[in-house]
Amino acid sequence: MPLVAPSLLASDFLHLGDACKLVNESEADWFHLDVMDGRFVPNISYGIPVIEHIRSVARKPCDVHLMIEEPEKLTPAFKKAGADMLIVHLETCRNLHSNIQQIRSLGMKPAVAINPHTPVELLKDILFDLHHVLIMTVNPGFGGQSFIPHSLEKVRELRKMITKTGKEILIEVDGGITLENAASLVEAGADILVAGSSIFQAKDPAQVIHLLKNS
Ligand code: DX5
Ligand code: ZN
Repeated sequence: MPLVAPSLLASDFLHLGDACKLVNESEADWFHLDVMDGRFVPNISYGIPVIEHIRSVARKPCDVHLMIEEPEKLTPAFKKAGADMLIVHLETCRNLHSNIQQIRSLGMKPAVAINPHTPVELLKDILFDLHHVLIMTVNPGFGGQSFIPHSLEKVRELRKMITKTGKEILIEVDGGITLENAASLVEAGADILVAGSSIFQAKDPAQVIHLLKNS
């Protein structure tokens, strides 16, 4: 059974407390929190003070996805805000190994995200240091985009690489995840499904979470 991590990016920001309550009371496993800086991605979402508020009511682990340049500068601040898991993008980190060490030394679980154009092979020498890998299944920056079908192949390839390491490293997929494509992603080897619009734009978000858990 996959883990489900609702992305609050698609929720009603005027009623963030309601979205947190919904996730707390649902079968969801983690909160997925998207941070954008307007530089690495062409959009700005929310940042540290908002995450602090979400963390104060969240009863599940917070998976914080940094779509920002120079994430090492703000890593301690995200720890302070309550991040349990911190995801940095391979494309923004010139010293990725030291970023991962920094995240671990602060007591968070480290993860690396890769964009649609980035081959999974580039993870080879960092893989065993990670708690999970996030495969972007859309271009980062916006919710509500369509799933890129080639991502399935990347999930399969990464699953093989992980099996070779003999370690338990989770695969997370993020972007355009729906009830239609979730099962094929799980079958390809995905462990964590991030979903924004398909959950928060549904009439019954808790039911969509339930169905995603059972895909
Ligand atoms: C996109 C974010 C995603 C986004 C997913 O840059 O990383 O987490 O919220 O939204 P949906 O599920 O609507 O594609
Ligand atoms: Zn995300």
